[in-house]
Amino acid sequence: MKNLTVIDHPLVQHKMTILRDKDLGTKEFRELVNEITLFLGYEATRDLPLEDVEIETPLIKSTQKRITGKKLAIVPILRAGLGMVDSMVSLVPAAKIGHIGMYRDHDSLEPIEYFFKMPSDIQDRQVMIVDPMLATGGSALMAIDSLVERDVDPSHIKFVCLVAVPEGVKAIHDKYPEVDIYAGALDEKLNENGYILPGLGDAGDRLFGTL
Ligand code: PRP
Ligand code: URA
Repeated sequence: MKNLTVIDHPLVQHKMTILRDKDLGTKEFRELVNEITLFLGYEATRDLPLEDVEIETPLIKSTQKRITGKKLAIVPILRAGLGMVDSMVSLVPAAKIGHIGMYRDHDSLEPIEYFFKMPSDIQDRQVMIVDPMLATGGSALMAIDSLVERDVDPSHIKFVCLVAVPEGVKAIHDKYPEVDIYAGALDEKLNENGYILPGLGDAGDRLFGTL
């Protein structure tokens, strides 16, 4: 699929297998979400532009590289996206963080936005939306719509998730083909309640122990 990167590194596949297990405790679930997000974030930042910089090592002067270009904003979709923030910040410590609060109505599966707070210069930043689950794609689409309404160019938005399904990827790319999606796994399908199969269950509940 265009603009979809599934990070199939053996360590990611191994950790995803542990994460999916229904008997995994909250503490271990959180730790694994952090660990897997490091790999996802590593891939999602692969195309950050570099510039030459002159430095002096203890031995000689030398030309080296440093990251340049747009500054980053990490944007978790609450609640579950919060579980991915610490790892993303450890990769890009200077990033600013915006929050989008959203939950899916249990019957209609339509997302309902209840909070939106961005850095004031969000339109000038490379935005990384983080949310563990890309299911119907409704939440991701509404989040992207909200950012685009605030003048963020969709080509400056990346969506980083642990598990995606083709329906969700299609929903984003039908409207925003330029949004790059990074996923730790591309699962098979959704069940009749909009849950990903095989999936990992309700990511927010598992992260916060609200099952
Ligand atoms: C989950 C998940 C996504 C959304 C994905 O959140 O974290 O935000 O569902 O589903 P979609 O692609 O069909 O929109 P949920 O609504 O359960 O809220 P929570 O994070 O507060 O638990
Ligand atoms: N949200 C979740 O937390 N899990 C799913 O499988 C689908 C949406």
